[in-house]
Amino acid sequence: MAIEFSAAVRRIPVYPAAAAYALPEDVALMASNESPEPPLEPVVAAVQAILTGVNRYPDPTNAKLRGALSDRYTVPASRIAIGNGSCDILLAAGEALLEPGAELVYAWPSFSVYPHLAAATGATDIRVPLNDAQEHDLDAMLAEVTVATRLVIVCNPNNPTSTAIPLDAIAGFLAEVPRHVCVILDEAYCEYNTLEDPDASIDLLKRHPNLVLLRTFSKVYGLCGLRVGYALCGSDAFVTAVNQVRQPFFCNAAAQAAAVESLKHGDAVQARVERAIMARIDLEDGLGELGIRPAQSQANFAWFDLPAPDGEDLAAFEATVTQGLGDRGILVRSGTALGRPGALRVTYGTPEQNRRFLAGLRELLA
Ligand SMILES: Cc1ncc(COP(=O)(O)O)c(C=O)c1O
Repeated sequence: MAIEFSAAVRRIPVYPAAAAYALPEDVALMASNESPEPPLEPVVAAVQAILTGVNRYPDPTNAKLRGALSDRYTVPASRIAIGNGSCDILLAAGEALLEPGAELVYAWPSFSVYPHLAAATGATDIRVPLNDAQEHDLDAMLAEVTVATRLVIVCNPNNPTSTAIPLDAIAGFLAEVPRHVCVILDEAYCEYNTLEDPDASIDLLKRHPNLVLLRTFSKVYGLCGLRVGYALCGSDAFVTAVNQVRQPFFCNAAAQAAAVESLKHGDAVQARVERAIMARIDLEDGLGELGIRPAQSQANFAWFDLPAPDGEDLAAFEATVTQGLGDRGILVRSGTALGRPGALRVTYGTPEQNRRFLAGLRELLA
């Protein structure tokens, strides 16, 4: 007889991971919104230095990292949660806030992990479609908030659509959300947003104790392989709750050391942002030459509908293009897996990878 798993396991969607592992080295990995640049050298050195001490458990209070983040953002350390990637904090928030009868509101398409939260806890999942500009429709989301709502997630810039909404609109939204509702503003890509200073949202924490700014070292810092993310919170209560539902040592020693070191190199990190923005311009220009208008990206990836021939099935056309790119050693993410058949999500690569991608796409559309 087969093992009988819980109802939660039967509900939880399987994460659509990119098939990018164990591939030859010259494959252009443009499917997972990673940084194409390796970690900074002093960060690698800090990780190496910590390795001789890994016979000890890591600091369960993440004191150095929370201290460094507190100095960087002037948010008290007691209001900073650390996680094994920001996903860890997200899933812990689901466990801490949701249960059968509770409601979770988020936009769709958005980050593919959000559906996991309701599925894991038995809460009700309320997905609000993005508007025609593929941005969050905050009014429509507000209309879904009820006495049963425990958590609202706003992804800004949004994955997979790359679009961002202005902070003013988010501030207006927060002013309307009842205080008992936790709002997670998922800012995994905020450093790439040229419309807004990434630090501007921090001010909102002073006015909204129910607000959580979720951030990560996975993207611009290039540390996704180590798994470390953080949340800047409007109150201590969220931090206590997400720590309560997790194992004590949720962030390993190498990840903590790498994150602390990374925060010392703001200029180098900013230079990466600038290179990503150059890649954005190159890709937008190149796609434009193919008659494709990507969504207004404020992230490290482009999102666009493929120009499918009239009458062609969108999902089938997208699969042909994705396969054709794969055959050319270029991995991108399929829109069907992310909620929009016929679309592609393409992470900015190195200049050479971006050229390869554009050349491959040109051939496939010819
Ligand atoms: C919107 C968004 N939030 C959170 C994450 C999770 O990142 P991590 O767990 O690596 O910090 C991602 C990763 O792709 C993302 O796209």
